[in-house]
Amino acid sequence: MIEKLEQLCELVLHEVDEAQDLKTVNDLRVTYLGKKSPIQELSQEMRNLSIEEKKVFGKTLNEVTTKLNNAIEEKRSVLEAIELNNKLESESIDISLPATKVNLGTPNILERIIEEIEELLISMGYDVVDGPEIEEDRFNFELLNIPKGHPARDAQDTFYLEDEKILLRSQTSPVQARVMLENKGQKPIRMICPGKTYRRDNDDATHSHQFMQIEGLLVDKNVSLSDLKGTIDVIVKKLFGETIETRFRPSYYQFTEPSVEVDISCFNCHGDGCNICKSSGWITVAGAGIVHPNVLRNCGYNPEEWTGFAFGFGAERLAMLKYGINDIRVFYSTDLRELKTFDRKDND
Ligand code: DAH
Repeated sequence: MIEKLEQLCELVLHEVDEAQDLKTVNDLRVTYLGKKSPIQELSQEMRNLSIEEKKVFGKTLNEVTTKLNNAIEEKRSVLEAIELNNKLESESIDISLPATKVNLGTPNILERIIEEIEELLISMGYDVVDGPEIEEDRFNFELLNIPKGHPARDAQDTFYLEDEKILLRSQTSPVQARVMLENKGQKPIRMICPGKTYRRDNDDATHSHQFMQIEGLLVDKNVSLSDLKGTIDVIVKKLFGETIETRFRPSYYQFTEPSVEVDISCFNCHGDGCNICKSSGWITVAGAGIVHPNVLRNCGYNPEEWTGFAFGFGAERLAMLKYGINDIRVFYSTDLRELKTFDRKDND
């Protein structure tokens, strides 16, 4: 029996030695040292031996089991180390390789124009306010002196949501009414409101059903047209350069009286004649005027006591002029290549 045991031991040691992977080693343990292994079978037979034989066989059995256990453990740690090394090698990261380039985003051109105007007007004491894009007819039209049935509504046809009472605002001017009502006819106001506006227009190179305006309102005592002109002049000089001049042309808006169209001298040809100014030397950039007494009254301000001016720039129009874009649809096509074109370092 002892001989059998020793032969078995030799065989197992040999197989352990030959084993190439951890699974084989584990299998060997189960096969030769597990419950139904030949070693267990031999130990079962021990009960048929005499006491003396038992002693000798028991000792050998212990030695063999320990030897095999040790051999298996040793082999296992060797194979584990090899496996770990292989893994480390195959998954290693070469830190000397150049890093993956992170693509930096580009500020949206419209946002850039808006921020430029905001920064300037904040420095002049204006607040930047927000208004809802889903607006009531009352604010978008009625309080602004555009009653139901007024022909001026045709030019500002928009998207109606509920009973013609709730609509997508066609201009940012309703925010004037909201801010005046909030101040309850008591306090002077200086505010600008940049934001999205909507009209039922068919999209083409110069029209978009969605666009952005930058509204301005100042309400105080003794405000005059020259205050408006001075303010507009500072804005357009900031946007287009110090040599730019401002011209007011008479116009008509329902919420201002008098109303004006704001033209700037052509930054491209300086009056020599070019496509941008259609050879007139002047480019229209905004609508503006002195707040109509009806609007002041509608919004809780006494027109005998208070006066104000208001203006509205089209953000896309400013951006198109400034960056030489000839199609308004570029802003809403979400084509990153277009937006990247305008990632000019000199404007950062
Ligand atoms: N809301 C006008 C429009 O959409 C633009 C405008 C004109 C705004 C005159 C004003 C203003 O505040 O005084 O055409």
